[in-house]
Amino acid sequence: MGSPKAMNVIPSHIKTSTAEFRRNEQHYRRLIGELHRKRRAARGGGEQKAKKRHEAAGKLLPRDRVDALLDPGSPFLELAELAGDGLNEGVPPGAGIITGIGLVSGRPSMIIANEATVKGGTYFTMTAKKHVRAQKIAWEHRLPNITLVDSGGANLPEQAGIFPDQGQYGSVFHQIVRQSAEKIPQIAVVHGACTAGGAYVPALCDVTVIVRGQGYMHLGGPELTFSATGERVDREHLGGAEMHSRISGVTDHLAEDDRHALGIVRELMSDLPRRPALIRPAQTPAPPRYDPREIYGIVSSDPRILTDNREILARLVDDSRFSEFKRNYGETLICGFAHINGYQVGILVNQGVLFVESSLKAVHFIDLCCKRDIPLLFLADVTGYMVGREAEQHGISKAGAKMITAMSSANVPRYNIIIGKSYGAGYMGMCSRPFEPRMVFGWPNGKSALMGPDQAANTLAMVQRQKRERDGETWSKQEEEEFRKPVHKQFTDFANMRNFAAHLWIDNIIDPVETREVMGLLLDLAARVPNPETRFGVLRM
Ligand code: COA
Repeated sequence: MGSPKAMNVIPSHIKTSTAEFRRNEQHYRRLIGELHRKRRAARGGGEQKAKKRHEAAGKLLPRDRVDALLDPGSPFLELAELAGDGLNEGVPPGAGIITGIGLVSGRPSMIIANEATVKGGTYFTMTAKKHVRAQKIAWEHRLPNITLVDSGGANLPEQAGIFPDQGQYGSVFHQIVRQSAEKIPQIAVVHGACTAGGAYVPALCDVTVIVRGQGYMHLGGPELTFSATGERVDREHLGGAEMHSRISGVTDHLAEDDRHALGIVRELMSDLPRRPALIRPAQTPAPPRYDPREIYGIVSSDPRILTDNREILARLVDDSRFSEFKRNYGETLICGFAHINGYQVGILVNQGVLFVESSLKAVHFIDLCCKRDIPLLFLADVTGYMVGREAEQHGISKAGAKMITAMSSANVPRYNIIIGKSYGAGYMGMCSRPFEPRMVFGWPNGKSALMGPDQAANTLAMVQRQKRERDGETWSKQEEEEFRKPVHKQFTDFANMRNFAAHLWIDNIIDPVETREVMGLLLDLAARVPNPETRFGVLRM
């Protein structure tokens, strides 16, 4: 018998030679191939013609700007790479803006860069949503924001999605101001266009750099100025770098070109006060004992077969050690303590439908993590809470509500990864976007919707049949089949993680083998920020 600690190592029973493993793996590799194709499309930026024109003007491409800004060898945790995918004609995945976390002069920072080669860097609905989301992530982690501006501002036909509401373009301004007030550095570079509302982004920042002969900012361009006032003025005199640096004083540093501007930002960053120390220190990281790539063969490709999520855990946590809590109670929810890249985390992962016992176990476990200041990681693979008379009499609504109350009240950092299914109320209970976790990710196999496509088609067909019978109409089997098909397709397409990523209901699709690195980075960022104490809402007994 080993030491008590060794007892926490998750044993693995996987045989990589079985037909099932191979089938799953093949299926998963196709999903990974698709993910990487989409990422490549996102990283490619705009059309070749636009990129050539951009470079011919002596400008660095937006991705090259990000590279030049980052410390050599710095990781770059890119976010929302597939935002807007397929939503606007001519806009590749990414919605015309690059956002991500990387090191600048040794400081983890949120970098937000307009993709000027995509529709002039203008803001579509998802562009605004992605910018606002990146700021929120920076805010929660107290990361400096570095905004590389090169944008025509609002994409005019998209005004409903960017202009009137909170969470849209105006929120970009609001969050700059509020973060600045909280001493979170806000730095901007004007690399190119910066028109109308867009001009307020650099104007609101703490410090702004502008590039000579290339960057310009004004509330109304030369054409608008002429039509409004009759004044004829060229772009340079109206809002060029010289003018703003010498006359208006709107900008603070004048750069000769993009690289020079980014060098100035790196200097500004090195002048910032030191990075806060770790509040929750890490232990020495250790890789899992089993190869994380085996996850591809473990995730079930057959919706009728449950994935053994203990096998998944064994490939996610340090040294495959998992100190399980209440193992024999409420077995459809696995809870326990582990480390990821050295950082302690409380993990909740589904192993079937949520029952009263599993929900109550979640409440107990979440309370423990809050008392001990341990971040919570929800790994969702759930079709929902148990339904039926027995479950209701046993108080499933009460227990589910308690779980939601505990999860929603918890003030420790919370993360959600959709590693399998995440349906209906189960989506809610496992800390999805509406509960504002720090981050939500999906694995490429993830699926989420109000209910599955079969159930949705059944439910709507049943309602339709009842209605027709009430009206004295007949409904043939074939008509019913025709009715069911589009519903089934709609629910199938909806549930795909690519749809969730396109609408920014998740922050990114990540490859299972990237999970440890991504979580390690996020836990490190979170470990430097104090959390307010948790006060639970009323827990119905
Ligand atoms: N709304 C909608 N579409 C816009 C747009 C806007 N504000 N600004 C640019 N576009 C579109 C263009 O129609 C063009 O579309 P296409 O690729 O389908 O032909 C694409 O974006 C690229 O524009 P283009 O002018 O060719 O690129 P550029 O790099 O030479 O210049 C800008 C980019 C942003 C400097 C320039 O387009 C511009 O000044 N736009 C107007 C900005 C403005 O007044 N905004 C007001 C916001 S309230």
